[in-house]
Amino acid sequence: MSAAPAAAPAAAPDQQQPTFRGVFGFIGGAVANAVSTTFIVLVVAAFVAQHVLDAKKTIMDAKTHSPEVVLARMLARFEAGSVIPRFEKYHVSRPDAVAMLQGVLRPSLLKDYTVVIGEVGCGKTTAVHDAIRANSTGIVYHIVKSEVLVSMPGLLARSLAFEPNQFTFTEGYLKDRGVELDEVTSAAEPFKSWVLLSLILRDVAQQFKTKHGHPATLVIDAVDEIAQQGPALLHAIQDFAKAAADEQLLNVVLVTCDGSNLPELKASSAMTRARIAEVSDITDEQAVDFLLHRGVNEDAAKRAVAEIAGGRFVLLNRLTKQLGRGQQVNQIFEEFREDTADSLQRLIDDLALYNATSAVHKSLCDLTHGALHIDIVHRALGKDLTKKLLATHINILAYHPNDTYTLHSRHVQRSVAALLNCTRP
Ligand SMILES: Nc1ncnc2c1ncn2[C@@H]1O[C@H](COP(=O)(O)OP(=O)(O)OP(=O)(O)O)[C@@H](O)[C@H]1O
Ligand SMILES: *[C@@H]1O[C@H](CO)[C@@H](O)[C@H](O)[C@H]1NC(C)=O
Ligand SMILES: *[C@@H]1O[C@H](CO)[C@@H](O)[C@H](O)[C@H]1NC(C)=O
Ligand SMILES: *[C@@H]1O[C@H](CO)[C@@H](O)[C@H](O)[C@H]1NC(C)=O
Ligand SMILES: *[C@@H]1O[C@H](CO)[C@@H](O)[C@H](O)[C@H]1NC(C)=O
Ligand SMILES: [Mg+2]
Repeated sequence: MSAAPAAAPAAAPDQQQPTFRGVFGFIGGAVANAVSTTFIVLVVAAFVAQHVLDAKKTIMDAKTHSPEVVLARMLARFEAGSVIPRFEKYHVSRPDAVAMLQGVLRPSLLKDYTVVIGEVGCGKTTAVHDAIRANSTGIVYHIVKSEVLVSMPGLLARSLAFEPNQFTFTEGYLKDRGVELDEVTSAAEPFKSWVLLSLILRDVAQQFKTKHGHPATLVIDAVDEIAQQGPALLHAIQDFAKAAADEQLLNVVLVTCDGSNLPELKASSAMTRARIAEVSDITDEQAVDFLLHRGVNEDAAKRAVAEIAGGRFVLLNRLTKQLGRGQQVNQIFEEFREDTADSLQRLIDDLALYNATSAVHKSLCDLTHGALHIDIVHRALGKDLTKKLLATHINILAYHPNDTYTLHSRHVQRSVAALLNCTRP
């Protein structure tokens, strides 16, 4: 770790003033070097002025680490960058996607925060990893798992090398940053933890920028996991990302599979500040090659790509397994078709879909041939049905940042065409 500014030695102060520092962690940190008259005077002054919270009012359990030490640790984490594990399996090289993402990770000028979107299982996480692995200096990567919402800020804090229980948020610290103590103490989790973490993050981002002359980058992958549990926390994170971009303080990159939560993201006013970047599927040629490397024979590989998977990794992985068990392409397609039929049937029983002149029928058939502008689709399908078709577990429509929709994947195109008896134009 490089020498961080004001990084006071962590151990010494602990041993010197355990009781004082338990209560006066913040002030104590500023004079961490000795039990001096200055220290006592400061402590007494602070006590009298009631600028320091007592143990009960301390928002997070005060341990004995100075803010400098805590901040220095997060700064060091950014400077070192997150360690991205090697990719172990056969790897399809995607130089265009990776170069695009590297531009997102290290913008020459920070104007917006970025939302990276792409269909479920199209290879976003892997491509982002590839883009970071080459040089992770200045980049912290965090992925949201299927944790409960209240745990999210704490797990993000861990990725940032921040231990909340080692930092005392005093009233003065909060006031200096325009936050009233009451606002924080009255906030429910996970918002309380998020707000406190975001304050520290800003401080460290400022330090990083001052020291290195450019902003650090924070990547939060799989934010769809947050959105699934309600939009509020994601909106708070977006507001932070927008403010950080406005002040050119920190480059925030959010990664999500679009379908489920793009409506949520769009509903946030902070979305106007977001730049949307898309990770797409690999090409059919790359997909066939991928299956060949996984031991699928050439004929099956070509048909499986053309009729079911296109260049969607998650489908290619599933096909590898099923073909390996001896299933036929036709048979596998039939399973997909039944799933799509069930989803459609459940959604549009009431919508006179099976009326070849209806607008719904026509636009779904049009979509089997390619992308349509979102306005056309909203008009034909209505917003409610559109939103349902976009939902991740339904996986029929896919949104693209050029304001178009397509059907979600190759097998859905073929299933819809078959189900609705769409004819070629
Ligand atoms: N370039 C690649 N070469 C080989 N396999 C890949 C590549 N990219 C992704 N995969 C494989 O495809 C699967 C999905 O990839 P990944 O998790 O990166 O997709 P994703 O878009 O992040 O998915 P999700 O929407 O679920 O977050 C994984 O099993 C991964 O190993
Ligand atoms: C990695 O990126 C940083 C910041 O942009 C740069 O200063 C450094 O030289 C790069 N390191 C390598 C090995 O390319
Ligand atoms: C089919 O849809 C069109 C347009 O939506 C409508 O005018 C017509 O009555 C429908 N026909 C039937 C049989 O439902
Ligand atoms: C918009 O993007 C989609 C998906 O990347 C693509 O298929 C379509 O052709 C694009 N449409 C336009 C008008 O650029
Ligand atoms: C499609 O065609 C089949 C057979 O011709 C018919 O049974 C079915 O009702 C048609 N479906 C629609 C949606 O028109
Ligand atoms: Mg992912």
